[in-house]
Amino acid sequence: MNIGLIGSGGREHALCKKIRESRLINKIYCFPGNAGTSKIAINIDVNILDFKKILKLIKFYNINLVIVGPEEPLVKGLVDFLQKNNIKVFGPNKFASQLEGSKAFVKKICEKNKIPTAKFKICSRMIHVEKFINSCDLPVVVKADGLAAGKGVTICKTKKEIISASKEIFNGKFKSSKKLILEEFLEGVEASYFLIVDNNSFKFFGSAQDHKRVYEKDKGPNTGGMGAYSPAPIITKKLEKKIISKIVKPTLYALKKKNNSFNGFLYVGLMIKNDEPYLIEYNIRMGDPECQVILPRLKTDLVTIIQSTISNKLKNKNIEWKKDKSMTIVLCAKGYPGKYKKNLKIKNLHKIKLSKNDFIYHAGTKLVGGEILSNGGRVLNITSIGKNFFEIRKKIISIIKRLNWKKGFFRKDIGYRVINKNANY
Ligand code: AMP
Ligand code: GLY
Repeated sequence: MNIGLIGSGGREHALCKKIRESRLINKIYCFPGNAGTSKIAINIDVNILDFKKILKLIKFYNINLVIVGPEEPLVKGLVDFLQKNNIKVFGPNKFASQLEGSKAFVKKICEKNKIPTAKFKICSRMIHVEKFINSCDLPVVVKADGLAAGKGVTICKTKKEIISASKEIFNGKFKSSKKLILEEFLEGVEASYFLIVDNNSFKFFGSAQDHKRVYEKDKGPNTGGMGAYSPAPIITKKLEKKIISKIVKPTLYALKKKNNSFNGFLYVGLMIKNDEPYLIEYNIRMGDPECQVILPRLKTDLVTIIQSTISNKLKNKNIEWKKDKSMTIVLCAKGYPGKYKKNLKIKNLHKIKLSKNDFIYHAGTKLVGGEILSNGGRVLNITSIGKNFFEIRKKIISIIKRLNWKKGFFRKDIGYRVINKNANY
């Protein structure tokens, strides 16, 4: 069968590679893909929010199944649009996608179903913010309601900062947000828990921890993610039970009651405090770069898993994982997440020989006249699997050194919390 894969990042390169391994696949078309996917699939340059054009291309190339990587087309209703046109597609519909598309939507579900999360106030006017700050403890987290490409959250240590971050949102900094959420600051350890979900059931789809800050020791501004590792040792069996019973089940049941079951990947963003999970956010897709560390550990054919999910037969599907651990380090263009240059040559990439346990996923690259150029802030995800996080990290850093990309930088301390704590990790 032919697959259409929507997206162009490291997550999509990892998905593409895994789909390529499936025995069921003939051709893969990436809309629009990157230099990495162009080696194993056919890239089609198209705006992923131009649904009509995408539909035309799907028909033209006889695509049998569409898999959506990023959140924006999901939140804007690509799944509903394609389904209406009788195209098989994997991902949640527009209603269920509000789990990522509207933080107020999620908070209301949490409140109604007693799901553990930070205390909050939904504000639609400045007067609501001013009232709230008269009686709140600091710091306070200010969040834009809608999608903000990872930039909609500010942790405010003073009332002045709360006012200024709130004003920015009300003044239209994030077009999709007319509302904002003020939230209690939760102290703890963050972890991400993934599921694949159909209308009747769900299955574990890996755990991971990522590093969002740009500099070592988790300093500096937030980024899309500088590196990640899987599994997340903090998610024990006991904690997993709590995540499922206190957070996942009530959420999926709440959607079902609204006649809109979730179908797709569900990313549960958690803060763990005193062995208790608190929901920070939902994403309605695989994480990036978490996907790049989870998929190399997957043994079962991904396409068969997705087929079972679309036909709501996930319950009977066995999903197997390798025992190995995995890590990815993101190689970024200098200046990211601030200003950085694009179209920078990555000269040595084709010279690098990788073992079967190493992967270089392209995140922001493009192929121009046979040359690989950078095309974003996060450029490559150097990934490896093995028995121990310390050894895996050493291996990744040695690959980055061989690559010797003078225009790039990376964090050498990915995984430091688990590596320093326990030498066996
Ligand atoms: P979100 O977009 O909601 O995931 O927020 C982005 C990041 O901000 C999270 O990954 C956390 O690091 C941080 N964050 C968000 N909400 C809170 C909170 N209530 N307490 C502490 N940190 C938070
Ligand atoms: N790595 C965070 C995200 O995918 O949202």
